[in-house]
Amino acid sequence: MKIFIDSADISEIREAARMGAVDGVTTNPSLVAKTGRKYLDVVKEICELVDGPISAEVLGISYEDILREGREWAAIHKNIVVKVPLIVEGLKAVRTLTNEGIKTNVTLCFSASQAMLAAKAGATYISPFVGRLDDISEDGMALIDQIVTIYRNYHYKTEVLVASVRHPIHVTQAATLGADVCTIPFKVIEQLAKHPLTDLGLAKFLEDAKKIPR
Ligand code: G3P
Repeated sequence: MKIFIDSADISEIREAARMGAVDGVTTNPSLVAKTGRKYLDVVKEICELVDGPISAEVLGISYEDILREGREWAAIHKNIVVKVPLIVEGLKAVRTLTNEGIKTNVTLCFSASQAMLAAKAGATYISPFVGRLDDISEDGMALIDQIVTIYRNYHYKTEVLVASVRHPIHVTQAATLGADVCTIPFKVIEQLAKHPLTDLGLAKFLEDAKKIPR
């Protein structure tokens, strides 16, 4: 499973990349707003830092606006993936962008039927939001299971990109279910590396090492 970092924070992206944990980056308007910087500037800097798919989201919601913004994003770097909301106008734009050879990430997916339409439109990635489903007492990972199964049944090429990840269990479940990609906030990437027995074991080794004659 590929790991993307779900962040617009350059220092977080740099740190995760140093761990070898970053195959790509996903951004969204909420993440970029937190930086206080212009969306274009942030994405250009990320493109210099990470050599992998970089998702940049359109802000328009009409077919024409999504298409125009998508083409503009795609023109800035070869690794750009245009992030498009899962609405009817978005699906139409994904079809056109796909025909033009532009990669897309269809975002805000909350159902298997939406995911099927994104695949038919030719999306490169589908982003089901597992955490937000869990938040309303639905089972986010059950949706991943459904989408992975449907895509396998019909050999859809669209990659399943698990988004809205909140904790390490989401990540291991995504990998177990055969998701193609998991986009993970920096805090959760750090949590993935941690285990209390590792810390305890290391403390004991360091203590015992003092007893070794030099
Ligand atoms: O990038 C989209 C997604 O990962 C958002 O996550 O935590 O805002 O639901 P969250």
